[in-house]
Amino acid sequence: MKHLLSVADLDLDAINEIMRLTDQFVEVSERPIPRVPALRGRTVVSLFYEESTRTRLSFETAAKRLSADTMNFSVSTSSAKKGESLRDTVQTIEAMGVDVIVVRHSSAGVPWQVASWVDAAVVNAGDGEHEHPTQALLDCYTIRQQRGTLEGLRIAIVGDVGHSRVARSDVHAFTTMGADVTLVAPPTLLPASLEGWPVAVSNDLDDVLPKTDVVYLLRMQLERQREALLPSLREYTARYGLTRDRARLLADDAVVMHPGPMNRGVEIAAEVANRPNSVITKQVANGVAVRMGVLFLLAGANPREPAAGDANG
Ligand code: CP
Repeated sequence: MKHLLSVADLDLDAINEIMRLTDQFVEVSERPIPRVPALRGRTVVSLFYEESTRTRLSFETAAKRLSADTMNFSVSTSSAKKGESLRDTVQTIEAMGVDVIVVRHSSAGVPWQVASWVDAAVVNAGDGEHEHPTQALLDCYTIRQQRGTLEGLRIAIVGDVGHSRVARSDVHAFTTMGADVTLVAPPTLLPASLEGWPVAVSNDLDDVLPKTDVVYLLRMQLERQREALLPSLREYTARYGLTRDRARLLADDAVVMHPGPMNRGVEIAAEVANRPNSVITKQVANGVAVRMGVLFLLAGANPREPAAGDANG
């Protein structure tokens, strides 16, 4: 694997390989000193043109736990503010010597452009409304951790699917892993076309929840909505929010997930997010180990022989 740009580039074997590596890096992360020398001498740069808390910090943490050097690019304090182009910025950074560029941008397709300009490996950390592959991988890992497998699980993805790069990547990853996915949303929050999406669709969350093993709430992305798509947030919550009352429809062992950041009280009630069957903070924790696995695959000296030697440091 040269880059990680899209979940669509990963078949079942490739996803399982990342799950297997993640198991090893979860173990590393639980050690008193959670660090291995696997990427010593390598440099990982975070090139984020869009806000992030979880993805940026977990990639940096992952790189440090692998003993890589890290560089951080922030648009607001960079020469991008003086008008430097994306291409000049990327090539300037590459000239300093980097092995992996982790890129987030508000425009779909930017990671592919970056990959065409550099020799370094490129990871898509979110491009517009298009894809967020490492989020999908950490979501697969978290579900597998909770339920043993995704094969045959019924997963409901609820909310603002149309604007969600998480939903696009998750649908591909979850169905590749053998899950049955149902999208639950008002028609205005679904993509214009679902042709080719291997999913069922419903607009009745109360009907779907009792038959669901995993309910995945999406963030309402008001910043990406260019027109009024809902009568009001209150009405959205009344029909599609995982309220305290509605959560009672779930089976006892059903898992509640959200990619973060949450709009508590909109797509998920604060109290529901804090319950034991909600694994939202586990998703964040697993994100570090999954990203260690991805960085290792892309930049490890011997990607076929992973943490066995390196993990023992
Ligand atoms: N889930 C996710 O991508 O969160 P951040 O925007 O905080 O990185």
